[in-house]
Amino acid sequence: MSSDSKLLYIEELSHQFFLGNKKILKVLKNISFTASKGEFISILGISGSGKSTLLKCISSLLKPTSGKVLLNGVDPYRIGNLKLSNLRRKEISFIFQSYNLVPSLPVLENIVLPLRLSQKKIDIQVIENLLNRMKFNAGLGDFVSTLSGGEQQKVAIARAIVTDSDIIFADEPTGALDSVSREVIFELLRELVEKGKCVIMVTHDIELASKTDRALILKDGRIYRELLNPSGEELYKILKVESSQGGIDDKVDMLSI
Ligand SMILES: Nc1ncnc2c1ncn2[C@@H]1O[C@H](COP(=O)(O)OP(=O)(O)O)[C@@H](O)[C@H]1O
Ligand SMILES: [Mg+2]
Repeated sequence: MSSDSKLLYIEELSHQFFLGNKKILKVLKNISFTASKGEFISILGISGSGKSTLLKCISSLLKPTSGKVLLNGVDPYRIGNLKLSNLRRKEISFIFQSYNLVPSLPVLENIVLPLRLSQKKIDIQVIENLLNRMKFNAGLGDFVSTLSGGEQQKVAIARAIVTDSDIIFADEPTGALDSVSREVIFELLRELVEKGKCVIMVTHDIELASKTDRALILKDGRIYRELLNPSGEELYKILKVESSQGGIDDKVDMLSI
């Protein structure tokens, strides 16, 4: 397999946090996988299993302690800041667990911010249609600080979708949403995948994960299982066993140095 024919190429990625008191938390250990255009991948695992850390490491936000990350053939941790911001603007979109919106800007300005930064065309009609489909219940001129968590999440999702990047990283994108909005958002992400984009989504939602093309299940900092076209039952069984086997501290290695 050639590393640069893949949209995302991850080889032997490990990450550890230094906690002070000479303690090291080994969160990710020798993780390897690839993702291609037109693929929808879900990442699952119990709380604290390293899902968010993995998503940050593979998406140019957090340099792993060791291992290789290639995004569209480019190692984001070996290029200068200018090239890195270009890569992020043009090829990657993020939907964060904490939304990362600009509270002092209205909804519309939050959504079009990446478009403005990369001097891309802004089509208000497209944005309105998108928000209508998501059953967005506020106005384009409302400040995001006045919105509920669910509505803020929709703004974050709309911002990621209109950017037209090749790869979308989403950390629990449907976490704060009711079941109808959750379905709509999944459909929107699925449509992007059908158009050739790649979506990598961390989720706790077994039903949504069962509709993705591949599920990666994290355990003890490694990919414990990788399921092609996962079924809900398979995922449920694996995750049920995981969550009944003790707390977070059993799942990651704490070393003293
Ligand atoms: N910046 C950090 N510094 C120290 N420990 C961290 C940091 N970020 C995450 N961790 C720890 O790493 C482990 C994995 O966290 P995380 O990737 O957020 O898990 P998940 O998203 O699966 O819940 C947890 O034990 C968490 O406390
Ligand atoms: Mg997380």
